[in-house]
Amino acid sequence: MSAMQSENWRVAPGGALHGEARVPGDKSISHRAVMLGALADGTTQVTGLLEGADVLATIEVFRALGVVIDGPEDGAVTVHGVGWEGLRAPSGPLDVGNSGTSMRLLAGLLAGLPFDTVLTGDASLNRRPMRRVTEPLAEMGARITATEAGTAPLHIHGGSPLTGIDYKLPVASAQVKSALLLAGMRAAGHTCVTEPAPTRDHTERMLQGFGYPVSRDLATVCLEGGRRLYGTRVDVPADISSAAFLLVGASIAPGSDLTLRHVGWNPTRTGVVEILRQMGADIEVLGTDEVGGEPVADLRVRSAGLRGIAIPEELVPLAIDEFPALFIAAACAEGETLLSGAAELRVKESDRIAVMAEGLQALGVTVEAREDGARIVGQPALGGGRVHSHTDHRIAMAFAIAALRAEAPVEIEACENVRTSFPGFVGLLRELGMGLEVDPDPAQTP
Ligand code: S3P
Repeated sequence: MSAMQSENWRVAPGGALHGEARVPGDKSISHRAVMLGALADGTTQVTGLLEGADVLATIEVFRALGVVIDGPEDGAVTVHGVGWEGLRAPSGPLDVGNSGTSMRLLAGLLAGLPFDTVLTGDASLNRRPMRRVTEPLAEMGARITATEAGTAPLHIHGGSPLTGIDYKLPVASAQVKSALLLAGMRAAGHTCVTEPAPTRDHTERMLQGFGYPVSRDLATVCLEGGRRLYGTRVDVPADISSAAFLLVGASIAPGSDLTLRHVGWNPTRTGVVEILRQMGADIEVLGTDEVGGEPVADLRVRSAGLRGIAIPEELVPLAIDEFPALFIAAACAEGETLLSGAAELRVKESDRIAVMAEGLQALGVTVEAREDGARIVGQPALGGGRVHSHTDHRIAMAFAIAALRAEAPVEIEACENVRTSFPGFVGLLRELGMGLEVDPDPAQTP
């Protein structure tokens, strides 16, 4: 993916969030729908797909591997599956841009193919740790060369026979679990992955939806290699990770009343709602349903006085992508919020502990960054100021929401990657009542 022009925002202070919205499709489920659809026999019809840059990168990878994919158009995609045998050697490196999920899951998937491939990404992704997938894949027999630092580009040498392993994940990671399950489909015997704490289980659910047997016994998930996937329909729910910004925004902005439709309500993803409720948020579940093996819910959120809490460590993996938004909730809560057991935040699209602490401090908040978390002292209002997102989409969106409780404009640098997970974010915030300018005239900057 070519380097993108930097985009800055200026968000007007104050206001409230009102109305109804359906945020874009779930990123994790969208990636998996494209991947399993491509590997399946027959066609897969996907609706509600996230048309964000990360998922588009996954689509482009499969096109480069010879798979015909129609769309996306209004979230609809048809994947003409070719089965494992139908994938073809690409003519060059596979560039997944900013997408960690694409890179880690594809490392597992490509390891079982008969030809060589190279996976690369943008500057941020090429700094992120990949040994967590390359090491267990090597135990299965894969031959993958990374940089000396264990980062991408990853050269995946095809044609190595894989054998199933029984692997205990050292960190709670759905990406690593999924990479091993994808490789396991091509491996001899059983592949079993044991998690130290529950992580999102979309891969397991979707494999079953495509007719691939998966078993779970407590923390261990297993599959046997050599079975087939069959094309199916996938209806992608709205992404709770995107909804999280609006849940926090409506909670902290007095007078807000917002309903979010068809939000993914998978219990391995609802940690953010549990944490916000423990802080005193008013989030009501209006109705639940199940679409293609994934629960969904309509959520109504009204503003509430939040209180600081010690976030239970067992909720951390269930809310791992929502901490940028939760840091803003904590900064607006009464009293202190303590986060621990969250060292993984340091290796996301940015070092989210350091970057959130730096940004909140720029808005006048007392934050102590710790190795595995932070102590955040809430205050009645935030100052305005200038913060840097370090090109991390979720940092940019978190600080946009923070403006709802700020006393002066919040300026955010490098927001271009918001398109990776939440295209239409700016337009939606404006519709719901916020004032947000893209690339404001620097002469007007206070
Ligand atoms: C994801 C898993 C999480 C999450 C990422 C998406 C997935 O990463 O942070 O945004 O789709 O499997 P880890 O598994 O590394 O925690």
